[in-house]
Parts: sequence; C-alpha cells; structure tokens
Amino acid sequence: MRPGPRVATFGTNVFTEMTRLANEHGAVNLAQGFPDFDGPEFVKEAAKRAIDAGQNQYAPMAGLPALTSRVAREVAARTGVARDPASEVLVGCGATELLFDAVLALTAPGDEVVLLEPFYDSYLAAVRLAGATPRVARLSPPGFELTKEALSAAVSERTRLIVVNQPHNPSGRVFTRDELELVASEARLRDVACLSDEVYDRLVYARPHLSISSLAGMADRTLVFGSLSKTYSLTGWRVGWVTGPRELIAATRAAHQFVTFTVPAPLQHGAAAALDAPASYYEQLVAEYRARRDLLIDALALAGLEPFACDGAYFVCAGFSRFAFDDDVAFARFLTTEIGVAAIPPSAFHLTPGGGRSYVRFTFAKQLATLERARDRLRALAGVATRG
Ligand SMILES: Cc1ncc(COP(=O)(O)O)c(C=O)c1O
Repeated sequence: MRPGPRVATFGTNVFTEMTRLANEHGAVNLAQGFPDFDGPEFVKEAAKRAIDAGQNQYAPMAGLPALTSRVAREVAARTGVARDPASEVLVGCGATELLFDAVLALTAPGDEVVLLEPFYDSYLAAVRLAGATPRVARLSPPGFELTKEALSAAVSERTRLIVVNQPHNPSGRVFTRDELELVASEARLRDVACLSDEVYDRLVYARPHLSISSLAGMADRTLVFGSLSKTYSLTGWRVGWVTGPRELIAATRAAHQFVTFTVPAPLQHGAAAALDAPASYYEQLVAEYRARRDLLIDALALAGLEPFACDGAYFVCAGFSRFAFDDDVAFARFLTTEIGVAAIPPSAFHLTPGGGRSYVRFTFAKQLATLERARDRLRALAGVATRG
C-alpha cells in the first residue's frame, strides 16, 4: 500500500508543518498567509441568504452566471481586457485548483513549464502531477528582479507555459512593465501561453497593478487567475476564477469538470456580492495592509533582521546574516520554538538546491495586535548569538 510515484515525494507541505510547530509552541503564527480576522459581513450575509433561499444544489460547471459576469467586469476594469462571461471565465475551488487544472490541461509529459523562483509551492506540485518538467528563472534577494539572463536560462524549445505571479509571493515584489515585457516577448517569440497568478492584485502599495495580459499580444495567450481569498479575507471559502482566451479556458474547463466539477453555490453568491464592493472597501483594505506592513518591517529591523522591501501581497522577507544559523530551516525553527514567532523557510519555494537559505518569510495578514505581540517577542533576538 505504498503511495504512487506522483505523490511519493510530496510529504507534508511547509505551511502545514510550520503551523503545526507554531501551535505546539504557542508561537505567533506569521508563517501561513491567512488573515486572523474575518471577511466582510456583506459577503457573508449574501452567502447566508443564498443558503436560506435554497441555492444548495450543483451550480453550473463553469460558475454561476451572476458571478462569471461580475468577474468579467472586474477583469476588464483591472486589466483592460474584455472577456465573454459565457466562454472566457471559469470559477474554481480557489486559484490553486484552477492553476492545477490549467497546467494539467495545457501540458503533456516532456513539456517544460517555466516558474519564477522562488514560487508559490503549488505550481511545482501541479507541474509534477501533470508529468511536465519544471524549469526556473531565478530571482535573487534582496531585490528579486527578473533579468533577461535568468529567463533565457529557463526557456527552451520545449517550453509550453510560463507562470508569472504579480504581485509575487514570497518576495512581495511587484514586477515592472520592463520585467513583464521580458516574459511577454519570450512568450510571443516561442508562441507559448502564460499563466498569470494575480490573486494579490488589490494588495499593491507603491504603484497600480499591472497585468501581463494587458501587454501587446498577451491577451490572446494569457490566463489570469483571481481569488476571493486575499482581497476579501476569505481563504477558507475556496472560491477563485480564471479568465482568458476561449481555447485556453475550454481546455482548463475540461480538467475542472473532473477535478472538482463545480464550486459551492451559496459561496458563489457571496463572491458575486464581494465583487460589487464599493471603491472605499479596497481603499480601506490597502490602507490597513500598509499599516500592518510598516509595523512588521519596523519590528524586524528593530530585532536585528534585514527586512527586504515589500510593494505588494502580504509578505515580508528578511535576511538573518547577523545570526549564527546555517540555513533558513534552522532559523525558522529556532524563531518558532525559542522566540515564539513562526516564519516560513523559503527553501520550500525553490527547485534549485540551496535556494532561499539566507532569509525567512513573514506574513502580515494579521491584526495589528498580533503583529505587536510578534514585535514584543522578536525583541528577545537581541540576546541571541551573532556571527563574529
Ligand atoms: C501566489 C498565490 N497564488 C494562489 C494562492 C492561493 O489562492 P486560493 O486561496 O485562491 O487557492 C496563494 C495563497 O497563498 C498564493 O500565495
């Protein structure tokens, strides 16, 4: 009864592992990126009303029309790309499911998929489960810039997909137009598709969101992934969506219909209400996240760590070169068990051996009071052995 070869190497993912360790040691959990506050009342109320109104049977496979039409409207406003709600939108159980569906649908064994490393770890699992081969374009701390050299080293005549994540987890980076243009020109040149994971598109602190799908020639080859999880603080609902050209959506739907088939109907009604939120909702969201980010960056610097810049998403990475630890796993474990603040060791987001060893990732998707508690505990780092 051994596990089959597709999953044999997976083990427990790093979020589950660090959350378990955090719970065991009563640590403030800045490891896993989920809010410790609730989603908006008006969204929850809409879902409750749908349940009471008997909206409790299978929803249409591609999503409720009430939701797909709002997704198309939202995406047009955010990226400038018009999509047909009936044939160019698909609702799934979170962006994670849809990314998996897309990789499964658009690759064959032997195809290569390019990831920007470090990457959200489910991309690698999706590529492996699909039987395709991952290739990475490396982004290096502290700046995590995407260079032409790194991208050229990853693409080949076997490339079938390039996965972009804007804003980027774990780095908090928001790629510039020039960096996205590097990816776009490779995609156009090689006539390959692009998967653009934009689940953090509303969480940008320095400049407006820019989707690769809005660059010349990219709307026809890009799938854009969105989600209720981050923008509406509802990670447990598992509602996400993908938009793109008809052929790519048709292929992704073909996988989705046998992976989850359909998404809970009442939650889709809630999601439709979420996408009707007024501009003030998003303004407040960003203002609150900016304050949390600033508090965390100050706390990390005060504790002797070297926080890197964060222009988007809800993560701050920080170097720990002052402290005498061999790698990110050792330091993250020490932080969790001895200091009482859990962080993620980012080597889990790398394919390249040794990648991510020199820093750890903290989330600031937490109440200010939680982050203040973490700041107080991090002060204890002052008494920890430093190098030399
Ligand atoms: C880059 C990125 N994409 C997707 C997700 C998951 O999105 P969803 O909850 O919609 O599956 C996450 C969550 O951590 C993420 O960081």
